[in-house]
Amino acid sequence: MPDINDERIISSMQNLADGDAENTLRPKYMRDYIGQEKVKKNLGVCIEAAKLRGEPLDHVLLYGPPGLGKTTLSHIIANEMGAHIWITSGPAIEKAGDLASIISNLNENDVLFIDEIHRLNRSVEEILYPAMEEYVLDIIVGKGPGARSIRVPLPRFTLIGATTRAGMLTSPLRDRFGIIFRLEMYTPEELKRITKRSAALLNISIDESAADEISGRSRGTPRIANRLLKRVRDFADVEGTKVISERLASKALYAMGVDALGLDATDRNILETMIEKFNGGPVGLETIAAASGEESNTVEDVYEPYLMQLGFITRTPRGRVCLKTAYKHLGKPVPQDKDERQFDFFNEPNKE
Ligand SMILES: Nc1ncnc2c1ncn2[C@@H]1O[C@H](COP(=O)(O)OP(=O)(O)OP(=O)(O)O)[C@@H](O)[C@H]1O
Ligand SMILES: [Mg+2]
Repeated sequence: MPDINDERIISSMQNLADGDAENTLRPKYMRDYIGQEKVKKNLGVCIEAAKLRGEPLDHVLLYGPPGLGKTTLSHIIANEMGAHIWITSGPAIEKAGDLASIISNLNENDVLFIDEIHRLNRSVEEILYPAMEEYVLDIIVGKGPGARSIRVPLPRFTLIGATTRAGMLTSPLRDRFGIIFRLEMYTPEELKRITKRSAALLNISIDESAADEISGRSRGTPRIANRLLKRVRDFADVEGTKVISERLASKALYAMGVDALGLDATDRNILETMIEKFNGGPVGLETIAAASGEESNTVEDVYEPYLMQLGFITRTPRGRVCLKTAYKHLGKPVPQDKDERQFDFFNEPNKE
């Protein structure tokens, strides 16, 4: 993942500073996992049924933007199943043999968590097909005409895959997951509960209105709510207080350059680039990225989901378009023909 995000307070991607605190703040059981009600309900049924049958849980795929709780939920699933969890990631597994040795060392009912599973290479992925489907490992022994394949039985395990880009998963892999969930952005109320829970774990008290301030600017993302909370707590420490008031929260958030909707300088730069250099679009993703000095993957995974959620930009067949609301938020005059033009973009034939 690009380094530029390490310094960005409202990036939803994990950075080094999140490491330890994420573990303290990470809920361990389903009852502490706030929001995602539909996912929790369905998953709860699957877990209970698997336990009743005395079988491992079916393989689970979790997808959605960074920081929404995929890793957290994977640990919770293992805890709820009373299973041991082994953690690895797509880019960490280089060779088919690496994965073969990981899965042949699993015990019955273990959970294998593969983060960024869309980044597994093809030859590694092929090991997974029979392993997931029939709990066997196909190994080729010997070379040339004398080579033959032997099947080694594996313990019954649960694979949990997490990805921010479900679209990049190959269909044979995706089809082998029995349970697939998409995590959604959180509502301000859910984020407020997360903020208050985290404050309690960090031993600091927080006023209701201050919790509103933080959750309202967290871009629908628990990781950002926690990160903003920690930075606001730094301000509280410096002021020598143990209570986060609304005044303190606003002051700290203002100092961090996070605006009322949770946008920071980079989001505003992207919107301004689209408006000023491309007349609000339509403009292609690569062009937006190049003109605003960001990586196109980062724009697509990190910035765009929230800007689309806010209704600030939209995708059309010809590229991204900035909507009226974005102009208003930035205090820019809305072009007269904005609405008609937008309508045309949707109707034009696909040129990109
Ligand atoms: N539902 C939730 N309730 C409370 N806290 C949550 C919830 N979801 C996430 N968090 C908090 O947000 C942090 C980030 O979540 P997590 O690491 O699981 O995100 P992720 O989806 O795996 O992100 P990435 O795509 O970057 O791997 C966690 O440390 C946890 O404290
Ligand atoms: Mg994760």
